[in-house]
Amino acid sequence: MIKQYLLSPGPTPIPNEVQLAMAETMIHHRTPQFAKIFSEVREGLKELFGTKNDVLVLASSGTGAMEAAVSNLFSPGEKVLVVNGGKFGERWLEISKVFGLKPIELEVEWGKAVKLEAIERSLKSHPDIQAILIQASETSTTVWHPVREIARLTQSGPLLIVDGVTAVGVARVPLDEWGIDALVTGSQKALMLPPGLGLISLSNRAWARSEKAKLPRHYFDLRLERKSQQRGAAAFTPAVSLIFGLRASLKLMRQEGLERVYARHDRLARATRAAATAMGLKLLAPENPSPAATGIWMPAGVNSDKLLDFLRDRMGITFAEGQDQLRGKIIRIAHVGYMGAFDALVAIAALEMALKKFGAPVEFGQGVAAAQDVLMETLE
Ligand SMILES: Cc1ncc(COP(=O)(O)O)c(C=O)c1O
Repeated sequence: MIKQYLLSPGPTPIPNEVQLAMAETMIHHRTPQFAKIFSEVREGLKELFGTKNDVLVLASSGTGAMEAAVSNLFSPGEKVLVVNGGKFGERWLEISKVFGLKPIELEVEWGKAVKLEAIERSLKSHPDIQAILIQASETSTTVWHPVREIARLTQSGPLLIVDGVTAVGVARVPLDEWGIDALVTGSQKALMLPPGLGLISLSNRAWARSEKAKLPRHYFDLRLERKSQQRGAAAFTPAVSLIFGLRASLKLMRQEGLERVYARHDRLARATRAAATAMGLKLLAPENPSPAATGIWMPAGVNSDKLLDFLRDRMGITFAEGQDQLRGKIIRIAHVGYMGAFDALVAIAALEMALKKFGAPVEFGQGVAAAQDVLMETLE
C-alpha cells in the first residue's frame, strides 16, 4: 500500500466530519427539514462571502457559476474587459465569446499579476466597457490579482466580476466591503467538499442589471434561484448530500474562525515558498503569489510531468501540473482547504526526495528546515 496525499488545488482532501455528514440519509428537498438545513448553510455562506446579499447554491462545478455570472448580467454585444493571465482568465474569455459579448482581452504574462495602470488604460480606451472579469486567484499560474485595488476603480463604473474559485475561504474577499459585483466559487476547494456545487453572490447593482440583461438563461436563472432559495428550496433539485456536507464544512470553518483559516493558508503558502527558495528553486509567481497554491519551476533537465507521475505513482503524493506553455516545467503545490502544517512538510520532504531521484542537486532537509521555521508559528 502507498498512502495517498491529495495536495492539488482541487479537488482537495475532505475532513471526516464532512464525509460523515454527506452519508446522512437522503431527505426530500421541498420539506421543512431541508429548508432548516439550507437556511443555516445560506447564513454561513453570507459570512464567508462577506455579504448581506444571498449566496446562491447551484448544482454545477465552479464554471457553472462563472457562466451564470455572464448569462445573468449582460445583453448580446456588450463590451467587457477580460483579464487573461492564465487558464481561468481564458475561461472568462471563452464564456464571454460563446454568449455573444465583445470581450476586450487584457493579456497578462503568466506568473504575473495584472497592473492597475493597464486596467485604467483599457477603461479609458473603451469607456463603454460594462464589466471587468477577473480571477482573484489565478490557480493555473498561482498568482493573486489585486482585486481589492481594482474594486476601488469600479465603484461608479463597470461591474467587477470575480472568479474566487481558489480565493473564497482561502483569503478575505469580502464582497460588500470591497464593492465586488459578482463573486463565484466551487465546492471542491476551500470548502473541503467533493466537486458539484457552484456558488455565486451578486451586489445590489448587479441584481438591478440582471433584471435588464437579455442573454438567455434557464437552468442558471439567478432571479428564479433567488426567489426559490429565499423560500428554503432551490429552483431545481439541489445536490442534497453536498449541502449536508457544506453545513459541516462551514461549521468547521466557523469553529476555527475565518481569520485563522486565512492565516493558516497564508502560513502554508509562505512556508512552501521559503522551502522552494531554500532548495534553490525559482517560484513561478514571486511577486504576487496566491495563498492557494505555490507554483515552482523545476530545475533544468527535470521534466515536471515525469516528476509528478513519479510522485503520484511511487510516493502517493498528488501535486498539480503546469498547463499549456508551463507543461513539463513547473509543479503546483496546493494549500487549499483541509490542509495543515504537516501536509506542507510532507509536500516538501517528498519533493526533495523525488528531485534527488531525478538527479537534481538536492541537499536533504534544506527545504524542510526552511518550511519548519515558518511553521513554528503554528505552535505560538
Ligand atoms: C480559478 C479557477 N476558476 C475556475 C475554475 C473552474 O472550476 P470548476 O473546475 O469547478 O468548473 C477553477 C478550477 O480549478 C479555478 O481554479
